[in-house]
Amino acid sequence: MGYRLTRRGLFSAGAGAAAVGLAGCANTTSATAAVEARGAFPLEPEGKILFGPPADLALLSRNENPYGPAPSALKMIQSSAEKGAYYTNDEAVQTLASLIADRHGVSPEQIVITTGSGEALSALALIYGPKGPIVAPRLFWDTTALYAAKLNMATILRIPLTEDMDMDLAGIDAAITPETGMVQLCNPNNPTGIAMPGSVIRPAVAKMAEKTTVVVDEAYIELVDDEASMTCVPLIKEGRDVIVTRTFSKIYGMAGIRVGYTISSAETAEKIRNTTMAWTPCTSIAAAIGCYDDTAFIDYSKSKIVEARDMITTTLDTLGLTYLKSQTNFVYFQSGIPANDLQKAMAAEKISIRGQYMDYMPWSRVSTGKIEDVERFCKALPRLLNA
Ligand SMILES: Cc1ncc(COP(=O)(O)O)c(C=O)c1O
Repeated sequence: MGYRLTRRGLFSAGAGAAAVGLAGCANTTSATAAVEARGAFPLEPEGKILFGPPADLALLSRNENPYGPAPSALKMIQSSAEKGAYYTNDEAVQTLASLIADRHGVSPEQIVITTGSGEALSALALIYGPKGPIVAPRLFWDTTALYAAKLNMATILRIPLTEDMDMDLAGIDAAITPETGMVQLCNPNNPTGIAMPGSVIRPAVAKMAEKTTVVVDEAYIELVDDEASMTCVPLIKEGRDVIVTRTFSKIYGMAGIRVGYTISSAETAEKIRNTTMAWTPCTSIAAAIGCYDDTAFIDYSKSKIVEARDMITTTLDTLGLTYLKSQTNFVYFQSGIPANDLQKAMAAEKISIRGQYMDYMPWSRVSTGKIEDVERFCKALPRLLNA
């Protein structure tokens, strides 16, 4: 939709604007100076922030990584944007798939590049959901399963967490029947942040995969202490019915750029390719190619996340509050007041954290973000709790 400027609109815009229009900018006031500074086609119209958070908001509610994108990604975005007149070349997608395949020791046919891992997980819910329930832990990143459920293409069978708020793998296994659509696990889990060791999750997933397809959402796995021992990718290489999803939104700090991928058998990959809907923009593919092997950035990114996470847990320790051991860029904790009350109190200080999940009323989730924003959270928490 274009903008239409009517005579009525022009004059109702205020005396200052009218005066400028009629007097030809002879007497520029500070208000008109500000208007002129924004220009005729401002990137961010007054009062609206189009990209990223407002400067005064500590955004700690969405598990983003503000230390990205890497300079190596930005450089590639710039050069690919210049070719934005053209649909993304298949060679670009294949190049990214080959980089990913090389690192994981699989073939490029086993990789599907998607527009964020959300697209992959949505596709998986649409593929397997119609067969029967998606069996999952009671708390997990359920957005894509709910998407399929809203389309009447899936139902979710939620299995209670253990007393320690961990996934109950034995319970999930016991719930699998011939009618099960798929199992969906999230390791490390969101919102709990708990990472299940490979020695526990791999044998359990192998057993489940004898009976049904198992999807393991590894959105945060690059943040854990020992990724190699924890990932379920080796199960795919053993030929098991397992699909792993990954993303560039977390460690690579590219949530708004939208790149994710799946690792599976080549046959399953073909099914996923046939179900995805978006055509990932050339700029996104380029960004991912640019930073995938940028170990200097990855190490920096991880160090900032760990620094921020330590600040949060030190504060929680000082206050004697309960929290789950996180290996991610967020911490799930009990403040002693309902999650929605804490969220409101933080919002009044321009600090954004998550509110209540389902019926988990005492549990709040705070993401790591910029160090200075996490500092604001750590200072505000004792004050708001009168601790
Ligand atoms: C566990 C988990 N999986 C997947 C996603 C989707 O991420 P994206 O679509 O940006 O890759 C998220 C988003 O926060 C998440 O928390």
